[in-house]
Amino acid sequence: MDVKMKSRGIGLSFFVFNFFVFSSILPLSFSAANQPRSFKKPDHQFGSSAVFPVQGNVYPLGHYTVSLNMGYPPKLFDLDIDSGSDLTWVQCDAPCKGCTKPNDQLYKPKNNLVRCVDRLCAEVQLTTDQHCATPDDQCDYEVEYADNGSSLGVLVQDYVPLQFTNGSVVRPRIAFGCGYDQKFSGSTSPPSTAGVLGLGSGSASILSQLHSLGLIRNVVGHCLSGRGGGFLFFGDDLIPSSGIVWTPMLPDSSEKHYSAGPAELFFNGKTTAVKGLELIFDSGSSYTYFNSQAYQAIVDLVSNALKGKQLKRATEDPSLPVCWKGAKSFKSLSDVTNYFKPLALSFTKMKNVKMQIPPEAYLIVTKYGNVCLGILDGTEVGLENLNIIGDISLQDKMVIYDNEKQQIGWVSTNCDRLPNADRDFEDDFPHTYPDSFGILSDQCSATYDK
Ligand SMILES: *[C@@H]1O[C@H](CO)[C@@H](O)[C@H](O)[C@H]1NC(C)=O
Ligand SMILES: *[C@@H]1O[C@H](CO)[C@@H](O)[C@H](O)[C@H]1NC(C)=O
Repeated sequence: MDVKMKSRGIGLSFFVFNFFVFSSILPLSFSAANQPRSFKKPDHQFGSSAVFPVQGNVYPLGHYTVSLNMGYPPKLFDLDIDSGSDLTWVQCDAPCKGCTKPNDQLYKPKNNLVRCVDRLCAEVQLTTDQHCATPDDQCDYEVEYADNGSSLGVLVQDYVPLQFTNGSVVRPRIAFGCGYDQKFSGSTSPPSTAGVLGLGSGSASILSQLHSLGLIRNVVGHCLSGRGGGFLFFGDDLIPSSGIVWTPMLPDSSEKHYSAGPAELFFNGKTTAVKGLELIFDSGSSYTYFNSQAYQAIVDLVSNALKGKQLKRATEDPSLPVCWKGAKSFKSLSDVTNYFKPLALSFTKMKNVKMQIPPEAYLIVTKYGNVCLGILDGTEVGLENLNIIGDISLQDKMVIYDNEKQQIGWVSTNCDRLPNADRDFEDDFPHTYPDSFGILSDQCSATYDK
């Protein structure tokens, strides 16, 4: 057992037990208590955004990540960007189950545990039935994901230095999870990332925390490139003033998901029988999932349109449930897109609001040289009637979750470079941008107000 871990508040439960200490809800001003001393609310509030380069791809990696500096001195953590959950967590340097990183790449808490009376603590509980025996108790959390993966750990608070598009470097203290017991879903291998960056709208998310510190508008967006990589941003500075289509977020009672609908499926420009879909926008999911009925309809539509073409089902390819092979093995999506028709989702309550899903946004070419359908049966994996728009269909679009106006927007764009926003960042910030591109290296550790 690591003695340092016992330094404050970390009881045995932190190390050994898997159940968590419940806490009660007591009003404690989280944001005011933890604002960096140097921070003053600017007169022109929310004038800026933070931008991060994204790494990763849908296939073969299956995730998109950002490297976030966390802690003091700051350390970089590769975090899976997840618009489907709130809590950000990193693998924890504590006796740890399901930690996949070497020790020196784990986060080490030191006297910075969030107390169980903190109002944020109530946000990260699975149940509302919480007890907080002593106010100084640590705040344990557990998150469970739709794929049955989970993380269990303790809430900590630490510096997360960010460079904003106006050139300023800000070092807010942000609460996040230190996960010491991770479970991965049976089918997939443990993720190679150090944790998850929760982009949801719940008050525990980094987005909400930055917003309540007065640093950004409550807006987050991503642009995932089909060639891999892309960018992520907090705040609304990068949003182009035109070209985006917006649809209202569904008020999603218990779950804080970004969802929209109802939508109707179009295939090759024509309406289909698939209607009334509610869709969750989830960058934490590699593929797109539809309920069984819609899924079957899509498989039939796509398969039928392949009749008479040189493609045969490749049942031997284990990559995904539905694959096809050609006369020759395929090298890239450009070899196959001609065989396939575009899909689209039309948001029926809105005029002319469609999300185009071209073949590139629902197919992958596997290492075996086959093409597979990146749309999966959600009902079969326990998602019941939920429909999830995953990374594959979010590629090559800027997707914006605007919690201020309660709307989701998107526009097809090249995610390999920054968009033409209202301001030309490359001119405004010739040195800090895009060289450092929102990410700080060790340079800033010297100037922490500790
Ligand atoms: C998750 O667990 C549920 C219930 O045990 C099960 O029905 C479902 O198939 C599991 N999902 C995955 C992706 O393993
Ligand atoms: C830049 O933006 C950040 C975040 O909104 C803000 O805290 C900071 O004061 C701004 N800096 C300047 C010079 O306006």
